[in-house]
Amino acid sequence: VVDIRKLYGAADVFTYDPGFTSTASCESKITFIDGDKGVLLHRGYPIDELAEKSSFLEVCYLLLHGELPKAPEFAEFEKNIVYHTMVHEQFDRFFQGFRRDAHPMAIMVGAVGALSAFYHDSTNIDDPAQRMIATHRMIAKMPTIAARAFKYSRGQPFVYPRNDLSYAENFLRMCFSVPAEDWTPNPVLTRAMDRIFILHADHEQNASTSTVRLAGSSGANPFACIAAGIASLWGPKHGGANEEALNMLKEIGTVENIPDFVKGVKNRERLLMGFGHRVYKNYDPRAKVMQKTCHEVLEAVGHSNDPLLKVAMELEKIALSDEFFIERKLYPNVDFYSGITLRALGFPPEMFTVLFALARTVGWIAQWKEMIEDPSQKIGRPRQIYTGAPLRSYVALDKR
Ligand code: ACO
Repeated sequence: VVDIRKLYGAADVFTYDPGFTSTASCESKITFIDGDKGVLLHRGYPIDELAEKSSFLEVCYLLLHGELPKAPEFAEFEKNIVYHTMVHEQFDRFFQGFRRDAHPMAIMVGAVGALSAFYHDSTNIDDPAQRMIATHRMIAKMPTIAARAFKYSRGQPFVYPRNDLSYAENFLRMCFSVPAEDWTPNPVLTRAMDRIFILHADHEQNASTSTVRLAGSSGANPFACIAAGIASLWGPKHGGANEEALNMLKEIGTVENIPDFVKGVKNRERLLMGFGHRVYKNYDPRAKVMQKTCHEVLEAVGHSNDPLLKVAMELEKIALSDEFFIERKLYPNVDFYSGITLRALGFPPEMFTVLFALARTVGWIAQWKEMIEDPSQKIGRPRQIYTGAPLRSYVALDKR
C-alpha cells in the first residue's frame, strides 16, 4: 500500500479549518462584528442606530460607498434605483414556466440567475460603470422579483412597481394589492419592513456572502453570483432558520409545553431554532431590534396577544437562565422574532427567506464589488486533506 500523501504531497502543509471558524477569507471595510460583545457595525455605524434613524436605501448607499450620503447624493442614488425597478416583460413571462406550487426561493434562485440572460450589458464586470449599473439593477429589481414570486404562488396578477413610493412601501404594495388598486400599507408596517431590511442588509462573511465572493472570484457575472448566494441562504441553518423558528413556536403551541421541548433540545433530539450563532456568543444586536419591531407590528395589526409571542418570550426567558444554553453561549439570533413579525405583516413562512434574500442583496453586491475592485483579489481555491484510497492499479471489469 502506497500512501499517496507521502508519495506526492508530503511537502504540502495546509491549514485545516472545517467550517472556516478561524480563517479570514478576505479583507473588507464594510462590516465589523464583535461576536463576544454582541456588536455589529456597518462602515462604523452601530446597527441599532441605523435601524432606528436611517432608511434601507440610505444603508444601501452606505454599504456601497462607505459614507452616509449627502442630500444630493441620496437623491441621485434614489433616482438610479427607481429607474431600474421594472423587469422586462419577457422576464415576467419567464415566471410562467415554474409550477404554481414552487417554493418562492426556488423561483428566486432561477429568476435572479436568469437576469444575466436579460441584461447582458451588466455582465461586463471589467467596466466600472457597468458594475455600478448591475448594483443598482440588483437592488432595484429584487423587490419586484420577490413580489412576483409571491404573487405567482398565490395565482394573483403581478403588480407593477410604483416609483413615487418608498422602497418598502412599494414592495408591500406589490405583494398585497392588486393592479390599479389605490392601496398603500399602514406606515407602522412600512417602517417595520424597512427596518427588517436594514437588519438583514449585511453580515460579513456568512455562508451566502462567502458563496457570492467565491462564485465572483472566478469572474462570473454578478447576477449568477447573487443567485449562488440565494441558493446558499436557503438552507435551514442560515436564511431558512426564521421559517423553522416559526414552525417550532407553532409546534410548541403553548407555554405549558416549553419544559418538554427544552428537555428534547438538551437531549440533542433537536435544535432550538432562532438560537445560537457561529459568531455571536452574546445577544445578537439585531435580535433586540427585531424583538421591539415584533411588538410594534403585532400592536399595529391588533395581534398583541398572539400566543406564539408569549411562547417565544417565555422560551427566551427559560433558555437564557438555563445552564445548557449559558454554557454554550446560545442567545437569540435575528431569526427568533422575525418569523412572528413577518407572519403578522402578512407573509406566509415560505416567503421569509425571500425577504432575507431581498435585503441581503445589497450586502452581497457590495461585497462582490469590493472584491472585484481589490487588486489583490485571486480566484478562491481552497485545498483539502486527502483521505481517500491509496495509489492502486486499474483492474479490468471481468477481473474485479
Ligand atoms: N439549539 C441547541 N443547541 C445548539 C444550538 C441550538 N440552536 N446551536 C448550537 N447548539 C449547541 C451545539 O449542539 C453544540 O453543543 P456541544 O458543544 O455540546 O456539542 C454547541 O451548542 C456549539 O454549537 P455549534 O454547532 O458548534 O455552533 P455553530 O457555530 O457551528 O452553529 C448555528 C451555529 C448553525 C447557527 C447553530 O447555532 C444553529 O444551528 N442554530 C439554529 C439555527 C439558526 O437559528 N440559524 C440562524 C443563524 S443566524 C442567520 O443565519 C441569520
